[in-house]
Amino acid sequence: MPIPVLTIDGPSGAGKGTVSRLVAKKLGWNYLDSGSIYRSLAIALQQTSAGLKNVTEIVRVAQAMALDFECGDELIVKLNGEDITGRLGLESTGSAASQIAALPEVRRVLLQKQQDFRRLPGLVADGRDMGTVVFPDAENKVFLTASAEKRAERRYKQLMEKEIDVNLAELIKEIDARDRRDMEREAAPLAMAAGALYIDTSDMTINAVVEEVLNLIR
Ligand code: DC
Repeated sequence: MPIPVLTIDGPSGAGKGTVSRLVAKKLGWNYLDSGSIYRSLAIALQQTSAGLKNVTEIVRVAQAMALDFECGDELIVKLNGEDITGRLGLESTGSAASQIAALPEVRRVLLQKQQDFRRLPGLVADGRDMGTVVFPDAENKVFLTASAEKRAERRYKQLMEKEIDVNLAELIKEIDARDRRDMEREAAPLAMAAGALYIDTSDMTINAVVEEVLNLIR
């Protein structure tokens, strides 16, 4: 029997992170926040002179980076031993992550790192291509989305809670550009996997979404 996987894909601000963490906790399963791997690479690159376009150098940094995830109430991420959790959530980090995520060579290097999270008793994997590319054989797949306004509003609240200063109009523009890039790229674009359960979370509470996802597993 393969180790069970539940994939949750969708655009930014759809609620993937919150829902995935709660579902993983209820099931007692492991959790993969695949976006944080791309975000960590974006931060690793800031510490080099590679920039976001030098593919050979980016691949070298991706292969060399040592990541450590501590999944408590909040996800703590260490890059080569240094706690980078605070910088991970910045929209500038998300934007850089989206740019390097468009490079097929980068996706290839990070594939195994993501698949390594598939451990017993099961895995909840959140991202853009979890159901289509990384875990195509997953038993259960979900596609979460919400209106552009709701997604921007949620990201805004999240950043304010973390005391990260943002301008809502700027944020809407940045998220829109990021989502468009993630959907239009050739390598593993954001797309709904065949057979995935589609949930529009615009007018739903977090608990209602969690229940709907859990019903799929039960
Ligand atoms: O989920 P997130 O906002 O943390 O992801 C940041 C960026 O990383 C996202 O804009 C695109 C990229 N990403 C990806 O290409 N594939 C994934 N499975 C997860 C994230």
